[in-house]
Amino acid sequence: MSLLKDQINLEKLPKHIAIIMDGNGRWAKHRNMPRVFGHKNGVTAVREVSEASAELGIEYLTLYAFSTENWNRPALEVNALMSLLVETVKKELKTLNDNNIRLHAIGNLSKLPKKTYDTLMAGIEDTSQNDRMVLNLALNYSAKEEMLLATQRIAEKVKSGVLSSDAIDYSIIEDHLTTSGMPDPELLIRTSGEQRISNFLLWQIAYSELYFTDTFWPDFKRDDLYQAILDYQSRERRFGKISEQITTI
Ligand code: FPP
Repeated sequence: MSLLKDQINLEKLPKHIAIIMDGNGRWAKHRNMPRVFGHKNGVTAVREVSEASAELGIEYLTLYAFSTENWNRPALEVNALMSLLVETVKKELKTLNDNNIRLHAIGNLSKLPKKTYDTLMAGIEDTSQNDRMVLNLALNYSAKEEMLLATQRIAEKVKSGVLSSDAIDYSIIEDHLTTSGMPDPELLIRTSGEQRISNFLLWQIAYSELYFTDTFWPDFKRDDLYQAILDYQSRERRFGKISEQITTI
């Protein structure tokens, strides 16, 4: 039984947690192992954190698994990451269904290799009826690109007369992002000691609490998640108001 878990206030859980999983390469390097070994162990952390999140009652867990910039890595590593994704989705499908977890993905998905795309879509389809938690993988994702594509789609609608430019408001923009329909993350975690956003969910994290930890992603376990949530719960979320105006987070 985890002592940290017991301290979490289940009434004040974030609905949506987003994680920048960083440090797989360095974790492997410390062990004199190839970077891919780090990614493989990163999958163990994905499993553990997904389980822990679902058990707590988190509704959305978004994991930054592959950015548009990650294509610039050596081909060997890119291919290994794509294979790992296919392998993991296939292997974990039963567990996802047994635990009533719905798989979802955001990013420029149609540009993924066909096998990755097809496996991902099959996983999304096979788990579409599950409603306990959404496990949302950001793949070939770039927040700037997401906003650019949304702007282009909105502009097309204005051009064709489907939408008036006066009608464009925050909700119209949100409807055209790949996170459409999801609440914004209240908590964003980044592992491995880096303190950057790296083009992740720029619109959606406008009011997110940021939590940075030195722990490398493969070492990030249940207690690390609980610690992050406890830290989040200890903060006062003011959304621009003053302390006296806040009653609940
Ligand atoms: C960052 O570590 C990690 C990634 C770019 C990939 C994350 C992928 C996984 C955890 C495995 C696949 C995930 C799923 C959901 C099946 P890094 O390589 O940037 O580490 P470094 O900063 O130490 O080099």
